[in-house]
Amino acid sequence: MLSYKHGYHAGNEADVLKHICLIQAYKSLKRHDNSITYIDTHAGSGTYNFSSDYMTKNNEFKNGITKLENYKFENKQINYYLKVLRNINNSKKLLFYPGSPSIICHLADKLDKLSFYELHNNEYKLLRKHLSKQSNSKIYNKDGFEFHNNHKVKKKDKTLVLIDPSYEIKEDFDKVIDTIKILEKKFQNLNALIWYPVLNIENNDLFIENIRKIGSNRIVRIELPIKKYNEEIGMKGSGIILFNGSDFLIKNMRDCVRELHQILKEEDCNIKPKIQRI
Ligand SMILES: C[S@@+](CC[C@H](N)C(=O)[O-])C[C@H]1O[C@@H](n2cnc3c(N)ncnc32)[C@H](O)[C@@H]1O
Repeated sequence: MLSYKHGYHAGNEADVLKHICLIQAYKSLKRHDNSITYIDTHAGSGTYNFSSDYMTKNNEFKNGITKLENYKFENKQINYYLKVLRNINNSKKLLFYPGSPSIICHLADKLDKLSFYELHNNEYKLLRKHLSKQSNSKIYNKDGFEFHNNHKVKKKDKTLVLIDPSYEIKEDFDKVIDTIKILEKKFQNLNALIWYPVLNIENNDLFIENIRKIGSNRIVRIELPIKKYNEEIGMKGSGIILFNGSDFLIKNMRDCVRELHQILKEEDCNIKPKIQRI
């Protein structure tokens, strides 16, 4: 039984990192190609209202998008992300936080083919309703980790996959490792973004080490620490594993992550953000 609801977390610092990276990954592929196949393996409901009970329970968005909303500096990736959110909201002031399906549907054109997986029945129904007018989208009420069995990834096609599990079950970390092994073996031309939480330093080091052991030369780790690492329970930061991230994407994310760190980190966080090949 799944109990995770992304509404509690939407717009937090992890969503900010993930969605900036997603936008840049899409843009990076779209530079050279007319059409993209996009697969979102863990899609959520697609849109989250700031005044909903979920969002106001822990107000996580106040440590994420709220800290960035009045950003006045030069970083292009942050400014573009804010522009996308405002355009989706059709308002300068943000009324709702768009999830990854809304962001991609906004960026995509009619030539792109979009697929969304959502296992939670209620979230799936909300997503179907939200995307009802989206003619280039397919929505599956199925296990997103199985995406590679359901789609033919042709060599000539450009495919972007967002793998964004809730990690409400510990096995999700192992499933991510297994999925990267499958990508490395069978889908070497596919582009993927895999989000992960940093919950505890030892487990995080082990997770990264297990990815390193796969022995791929296509993997870059982007990690944004927010809190000082300590024994307390809770997320200390988050990261993205890029599979086949282009040099353009990696370069764009480098300055952006440093800037995000300055704005989003807690005062006593003394750990630096990382962008490194693993
Ligand atoms: C972190 S949220 C997704 C957020 C979304 N990608 C975004 O950025 O707006 C993870 C979602 O995956 C769903 N989920 C959990 N396990 C799943 C699975 N095996 N396959 C598909 N969806 C799953 C959860 O119900 C939840 O809505």
